[in-house]
Amino acid sequence: MKKLIFSIMLIAAGVVSLTASTPAYLDESRPVDDRIEDILSRLTTREKVAMLHAQSKFSSAGVPRLGIPSFWTTDGPHGIRPEVLWDEWEQAGWTNDSCVAFPALTCLAASWNPEIALLYGTSIGEEARYRGKDILLGPGVNIYRTPLNGRNFEYMGEDPYLASIMVVPYIKGVQSNGVAACVKHYALNNHEVNRHTTNAIVDDRTLYEIYLPAFKAAVMDGGAWSIMGSYNLYKDQHACHNKFLLNDILKGEWGFDGVVVSDWGGTHDTPEAIANGLDMEFGSWTNGLSNGKSNAYDNYYLADPYLDLIGEGKVGTKELDDKVRRILRLAFRTTLDRNRPHGSLCSPEHIAAARRIGEEGIVLLKNTRGVLPIDPERVGKVVVVGENAVKMMTVGGGSSSLKVKYELSPLDGIRNRLAGKADVVYVRGYVGDPSGEYNGVVTGQNLKDDRSAEELIAEAVREASDADCVIFIGGLNKSAHQDCEDSDREGLELPYGQDDVIRALAKANPNLVVINISGNAVAMPWAGDVAAILQGWYLGTEAGNSIAAVLTGDVNPSGKLPMTFPAKLDDVAVHKLGLYPGTPRGDGSKTVDCNYDEGIFVGYRWAEKNDIKPLFPFGHGLSYTDFKYGKAKVDKSTLTHEGKVTVTVPVTNVGAREGSEVVQLYIADIKSSVPRPLKELKGFRKVRLAPSETAEVSFEITPEALSYFDADTHSWVCEPGAFEALVGSSSADIRGKVRFSYDDSVASR
Ligand code: BGC
Repeated sequence: MKKLIFSIMLIAAGVVSLTASTPAYLDESRPVDDRIEDILSRLTTREKVAMLHAQSKFSSAGVPRLGIPSFWTTDGPHGIRPEVLWDEWEQAGWTNDSCVAFPALTCLAASWNPEIALLYGTSIGEEARYRGKDILLGPGVNIYRTPLNGRNFEYMGEDPYLASIMVVPYIKGVQSNGVAACVKHYALNNHEVNRHTTNAIVDDRTLYEIYLPAFKAAVMDGGAWSIMGSYNLYKDQHACHNKFLLNDILKGEWGFDGVVVSDWGGTHDTPEAIANGLDMEFGSWTNGLSNGKSNAYDNYYLADPYLDLIGEGKVGTKELDDKVRRILRLAFRTTLDRNRPHGSLCSPEHIAAARRIGEEGIVLLKNTRGVLPIDPERVGKVVVVGENAVKMMTVGGGSSSLKVKYELSPLDGIRNRLAGKADVVYVRGYVGDPSGEYNGVVTGQNLKDDRSAEELIAEAVREASDADCVIFIGGLNKSAHQDCEDSDREGLELPYGQDDVIRALAKANPNLVVINISGNAVAMPWAGDVAAILQGWYLGTEAGNSIAAVLTGDVNPSGKLPMTFPAKLDDVAVHKLGLYPGTPRGDGSKTVDCNYDEGIFVGYRWAEKNDIKPLFPFGHGLSYTDFKYGKAKVDKSTLTHEGKVTVTVPVTNVGAREGSEVVQLYIADIKSSVPRPLKELKGFRKVRLAPSETAEVSFEITPEALSYFDADTHSWVCEPGAFEALVGSSSADIRGKVRFSYDDSVASR
């Protein structure tokens, strides 16, 4: 206060002039664009180039001379990654860098609840902010094209509409903390094998209808402040400096005003990176070029090589200024925003959020004879079998691996919930991957067990035979080839002989519940032999509580599959057509061409076109109550080009428990001049209903929902004619249909 009065006195006395001493870029009353230009005018070329690339594994330089801070990035997308050393992947060894692990993004997508996505984004954004991070490397929205993709667990499923709706609130939540979301991996990074050398060959219609919509929504509706280029190539150009994806589509068509960040090591060429829209380069390998240099980062493509080209007059500074403007804009949105919140870490609210997201995303795939929910008052002996009942799942999987404050295992969650009620016995059943380490973060669990498969099965069967209920908890585990970055799965089957364990248990006890922990569909040849199946995803810190709540009915399951569970691999387009993982070009280059010949027929679009019955269809998920759909109605029979029609359907909870239903709207084009899917998701609403309660669920349909992308005219086309709105509980459980037509000659009123 004294200081302030003194300053005012000095100003009044004319000793100090405010305007002369306050640089324009610090004057908060000025428009941000002016402040950016002011900074730009003060920077040397060297300072500008220094802002374009990493200075450590996860940070980039600011401008120390002007007080512009460095940017700190972090993985993402399920929790805040532990600190690594400045210039090494090894752990920094901090003791205050643990976090809450939120459920994987597949689980979020399975909630079909945008409010949950907002809760997720806000919570993880708060954790990022508290940990001093400015850019969160997530969310991921690459479309689920094959169940073998090792990174599907980091994405939001197979449907562009579902992913588009779910990604937006996540981004808004993150960014409400003054932390940028960095949407990844843009684009066409749909499997991990050969991820640096795969050249995606996709027609424009497929690109615009299937692989771009979630990115477009992230940018245009979510207002994402940054986006990460992917490792693969498209049209023979790396996606991180790809003219088509970055200049033409992202920055051109979508008007993106944020920062394009390379994936770590995804930059390969200086002139392309300069010209084709890359703004910041991270994680490039320096291939020994660092010898004799004090700072290996000077060798980055957007570092000294860029300065050299400018110095030699081979490139100008127009692109440089554009990149720096974007980076400064990002700074004003994050590091230079003095009003951004301070965040919070491992708070009770975040733990509750993690639990709630898990509870909303768990999917009840099958439930016969009312085996679920388990009534804690009526079970005497519960046998839990399987490695995933005890294995920590937050460590592993690649860059999304976390160091958690704690992780409650499914077994502990079940034990806690049934304490004092039932006798819970645990047996191993199978040995999968007993190790628990990623980049130096160790789970500390010793899961080694040298017994043979026969011995383990015999023990499980012995315990199961007199149990009231048997819960098998298995699936994948984020080890290499089991849902893990940089490797794909090698088949659809469950690993480690789990099918044998499940079959033996099913014979021993009819009350067998299988909980599959994975981010991918798995084959379930025993599905007909078990009483109940739950899809558990990777549930993070509160895994045990979320699972126990659903098992016992404290929470009525309401998740729906965000991807098709095929009965066999051959039922998936890319495998049936032999497109995976592509064909080496064989011209001496390392390029592997991957044709997306299935076109727009991905997931349920392929299954329905070819009349393939999946194991569990897209959008499927049961509840402990039942919902009855009344007659669907449409408010008018004709949609005009600027108008909308509203479809309404009454949905009633006809069971005895409160529960939530995801009412899904699909659109079918009855007659089209181009091939179209039998139907496509174009709306959904999650409604919570008390017993006997009815909700009138309505959807507004605009021409956008009826359109296809016409590559010739490079525009969305809505053809006049008849359409059908289908309302249902899953893609395969349609409860009502109404017809309407589209007439583009009628002016709207
Ligand atoms: C991954 C990114 C990740 C980055 C930084 C890359 O290998 O593909 O998703 O954000 O590493 O860890």
